[in-house]
Amino acid sequence: MLHSQKEMSENKPGFLTGTRNHVLDLDDFSLEELDLLFTTTDEMHTVLNQDKKKLAVLQGKIIVTLFCEPSTRTRLSFEEAGKILGADVINISSQGSSVEKGESLLNTMLTIQATGADIIIIRHPHSGAPHFIARHLNSSKVINAGDGLHAHPTQALSDLYTMKSHLGHLANRKVVIVGDILHSRVARSNLWGLLLIGARVVLCGPPTLLPKEFLRGDHRKNGHHLAKIEVEMNLDKAIEGAAAIMALRLQTERQDDGFLPSLREYSKMYAITPERLKTAQTRAILMHPGPMNEGVEISPDVAHGPQSVIEEQVNNSVAIRMSLLKLLLNPTGKIQ
Ligand code: CP
Repeated sequence: MLHSQKEMSENKPGFLTGTRNHVLDLDDFSLEELDLLFTTTDEMHTVLNQDKKKLAVLQGKIIVTLFCEPSTRTRLSFEEAGKILGADVINISSQGSSVEKGESLLNTMLTIQATGADIIIIRHPHSGAPHFIARHLNSSKVINAGDGLHAHPTQALSDLYTMKSHLGHLANRKVVIVGDILHSRVARSNLWGLLLIGARVVLCGPPTLLPKEFLRGDHRKNGHHLAKIEVEMNLDKAIEGAAAIMALRLQTERQDDGFLPSLREYSKMYAITPERLKTAQTRAILMHPGPMNEGVEISPDVAHGPQSVIEEQVNNSVAIRMSLLKLLLNPTGKIQ
């Protein structure tokens, strides 16, 4: 998970220079690329607000989604995004495909590429799977729609866009990420983006659900890129003065027994409640990447309350994914 300062300062790919072939995580994004993506997302929102939500900018392009894990938001929003842009979108899942007959991931990907897919959007339970296939494909581009506990860049881009649209700028604003950080690919990708934008990031959760590097303070050594990340295990202290709070789902499917004494105790110490939210800034926004376990990491009152931007995150994710597909497949094409 930890990357060095040197890696961060190396040349980064760009949409307009034709050097970005894949979106695997946010560690190789520049501020310029983020700006372009967010401006394009504003334009996509204009399209989404029209009666006729249909463009021709990706006409003739083929987008294939391969989901080897369940998904509602990511899969639906990518499909919607591709179709609005005029592309042909084909959805497959590991269930019902030749993966069930023992075909390897690489051979599955080479097969999809051979059918002419311009882009493959993949969700996979194994961390690093999208990076692995991206190295072996020569004509299809790859978007990571979530790999194991490693990265979920398009969710983080939707989250960053949502924060910016509410808070204006994020420089030195306190953003608190609460919960199961250890198993959260959303948190990992958000760290890259939030640090790039200059936010003050505080991670909060029980010690068993925080990565050891952060617990031991290893990330603070040797001018490490993640040195500015703060860790606060007391949720009340963490939330104080926050501009944005992001609650994370307890990823029980990735947890062996023993991470928590009980869900009730976890909820008592780490759930976002109306009382706790009062200690944040008055206009603080409450986020959750979904799916939520209401009553566990977040109370229903705040999940559907006035400070919640959770549905907006989903709405923004369609526009963000439209921008990504457009910038990857037809960066100079006109939107209207
Ligand atoms: N946030 C997210 O990835 O949701 P889905 O699992 O429903 O796609």
